[in-house]
Amino acid sequence: MEKKWKRYTITAALPYANGGIHLGHLAGAYLPADTYSRYRRLKGDDILYICGSDEHGVPITLGARKEGITPQQFVDKYHSLMKNSFEEFGISFDIYSRTSNKIHHETAQQFFLDLYKKGVFTEETSQQLYDEQEKMFLADRYIMGICPVCANEKAYGDQCEKCGSSLSPKELKNPVSVLSGNVPVMKETKHWYLPLQNYEPWLREWILENHKDDWKTNVYGQCKSWLNGGLHPRAMTRDLDWGVRVPLPDSEHKVLYVWFDAPIGYISATKELRPNDWEKYWKDKDSQLIHFIGKDNIVFHCIIFPTILQAHGDYIIPDNVPANEFLNLEGEKLSTSRNWAVWLHDYLKDFPGMQDTLRYVLTSIAPETKDSDFTWKDFQDRHNNELVAILGNFVNRTMVLTHKFYDGKIPVCGNLNQNDHALLDAIKIVQQTISESLEKFRFREALQLLMNLARTGNKYLTDNEPWKIFKSNEERCATVMYLSIEITTYLAQLMQPFLPNAAEKTLAMLNLPKKNWNTELKGQLIESGHQLNEAALIFRKIEDEEIAAQIEKLNANQKEVVIEPESSPPKTVIAKAIINYDDFSKLELSVGIITAAEKVKKADKLLQLQVDIGTEIRTIVSGIAEHYTPEDIIGQQVCIVANLAPRKIKGIESKGMILMAEDENGKLKFIMPSEAMKAGSKIS
Ligand code: 2FM
Ligand code: ZN
Repeated sequence: MEKKWKRYTITAALPYANGGIHLGHLAGAYLPADTYSRYRRLKGDDILYICGSDEHGVPITLGARKEGITPQQFVDKYHSLMKNSFEEFGISFDIYSRTSNKIHHETAQQFFLDLYKKGVFTEETSQQLYDEQEKMFLADRYIMGICPVCANEKAYGDQCEKCGSSLSPKELKNPVSVLSGNVPVMKETKHWYLPLQNYEPWLREWILENHKDDWKTNVYGQCKSWLNGGLHPRAMTRDLDWGVRVPLPDSEHKVLYVWFDAPIGYISATKELRPNDWEKYWKDKDSQLIHFIGKDNIVFHCIIFPTILQAHGDYIIPDNVPANEFLNLEGEKLSTSRNWAVWLHDYLKDFPGMQDTLRYVLTSIAPETKDSDFTWKDFQDRHNNELVAILGNFVNRTMVLTHKFYDGKIPVCGNLNQNDHALLDAIKIVQQTISESLEKFRFREALQLLMNLARTGNKYLTDNEPWKIFKSNEERCATVMYLSIEITTYLAQLMQPFLPNAAEKTLAMLNLPKKNWNTELKGQLIESGHQLNEAALIFRKIEDEEIAAQIEKLNANQKEVVIEPESSPPKTVIAKAIINYDDFSKLELSVGIITAAEKVKKADKLLQLQVDIGTEIRTIVSGIAEHYTPEDIIGQQVCIVANLAPRKIKGIESKGMILMAEDENGKLKFIMPSEAMKAGSKIS
C-alpha cells in the first residue's frame, strides 16, 4: 500500500548567490518543484515550498574578490537579483530565504554542536595546501592543476569539469593557487570529519533496497556508483573567514563546510517562515521530504545530507530526490563563465508577460532522463505551433463561437451521441493520468497529456463543425458547444500547475473559480445559462525577428574565458612544466584505427573503443561520447599513447589514450596523420 502523507516539505536547491538564474537552473530544479508544489496546493495538501540563496562557499569569496567588494555586498547584490527574477517569473516559493541570515547561522551551528556532542565527528589533523603569499589555506576551488584522469589542465581541486571526475587537491598534478598563481605549500591544520563510511550499510539499505523502485534511475545509479566506490570521511569544516563560524573554541578562522551548512538552510528557512510549527515539516514521519535538484547535487542530497540528518536522529530523511540532468543551450553545454546562458532577468525583460511560454518549453524539453537541448528556434516552434495553434486556438474558438451564437451564455446540452460519450470519458480520465504522472515526477508526460486534451478539443470542433449547423440543427450545435466549453473548463483547471497565467486568464474568461483537484474536479463543471466573460487571446505569436535577436544576443555576449590568477604571474598559470627530451622519449605514440566503438553504460561522456594498433587490438576508454557517436568513428585513424599504464575506468580496463585537439568551443577533434597510414605506424 502506498504511504499516505500528511504534509509535504518540498525544497529546491539553494542557488549560489554569485550570478543570476539561468534557464538551466529553472529546468533543473525550480520549475519542476514549482509545478509539483502548485499541483499539491490544488489538491489542498499541506505543503511548504522552500528555497533561498546559498551565500557561502568559495565561489562567493572568489566572486567578491573579483568584483572588489566584500562577500556580504556581493551576496546582497545577487540575492536580490535572483529573488526578484524568481518572483517575477512566478516561482511560488513559500519562502525564499538566504544563508547569511542570523537564524541560519544559529541553526547550522546548533546542528553542528548537536552532532559534535553526540560524538559523530572524528577530528583529524592533516597537511593541507597553503598559499604563503595570501596567508590562506586553499579550499579545493582555490587550487587548479592537471586532472590525473583526462589531463585537463584546468581541473579544480575538487572536480575536473571536463571529465567529471571528483578529485581531491592532492591528486592534481602541478597544483597552483588560483589566488596568487604560486605553487602552494603543505601546512598542518585540524578539521572535523563526518565518517560517511560508518553509514554505508544504512545508506545501502535505505537507497539501494528501499528506493529501488521509486527513485529515478539517474539518481539511483549515481548513488549506487558512489556507494560502490567506497565512502570516506569528509571534512565538515574549512579554513576560511567567510561562512558559518565553527562553534568550538580556537576556531576563529574556521567555518562550516558549505555543503554542511547549505542544506541546513532548508531547515532554517522553514523555521523563519513557521517559527511555531516548523518542526512538523522536518521531524514528523508523516511528512514527505522531497529535494528538487540538478544532477551535480545528487551526492550531497542523497548521501551526505541524509547522513547528517540520520546521524542527528531527530529529523526525517528525504523520501525522494527527483534530480534532473542538464539542459544544454543551442547544442552546447551551458557555461556561466563563457556567458553561454539565457538569463531569466533578460528573458523577463525581452518577453514581458510570457512566463508561461518559458514554463511550457522548459517542461516540454525537461532533462528528466538525459541531458536535453534548448534552442531559440524550438522555443518559437513550440510556442507558435503548440501553445498558440493548439491550446490557445481551441480556447479562443470556443469562446468566440459561444459569444457569437449565444451571447456568451452556456447553451443547453442536448442528447449525447457515441462520440460525445467518448469525449466525456477522455475528459474524466485526464485529470487522473496527469496527477499520476506528476506524482512520479514525469512533468513532460503530464504536460503532454494536457496538450492532448486540447488536441482532442480541436478535433471535436473540427469534426462537428458547429458553425455549419447553427441554423440547421440548433440542438446539436448547442450540445457541441456545451461540450467544448466543458473541455475548456477542464483545460483551464488542469493548466494551473503548468501555465498558471494562462489558466488564470482562461478561468477569468469562463467566469469560474479555481477548483480543488481532490474534491471538485469531477463530473460536470459547467452549467447551462452561466454567463462567460469576453474572449481574449491567451497567447500571442512569436515573430522570427524576436528569435533572431535572441540568437544574436547570445553570440554577441559570449565571452572568451582565460583562466588567470588575480595577481602575477599573468596568463599561463597552468602551463605544464618544461620537460627534457628524455621525458618526451618515454612516450610511445603510434597510429591506430578504431575498429569498434560503443557507449559506456551510465557514463555520458565515455566511449569504449577497440583500436587496432598493428600488433594487437586494444581496448581504450575515451571521454569523447559528447563529441562523436560510435557509428561515426569506425575506421577513424587516431594517434594514441600506446605505453600508458592501464587504468580501470567504469570497471573497464583501458590500455592507452587517444590524442585529441580541442577547438575554441570545447569540441574535441581527432588528431590524425595527413594521409592514411597503417595501424601501428610510429609517431615521433
Ligand atoms: O549547486 C549549487 O548551486 C548549490 N548552491 C546548491 C546547494 S543546495 C542545498 F544544499 F542548499
Ligand atoms: Zn579530467
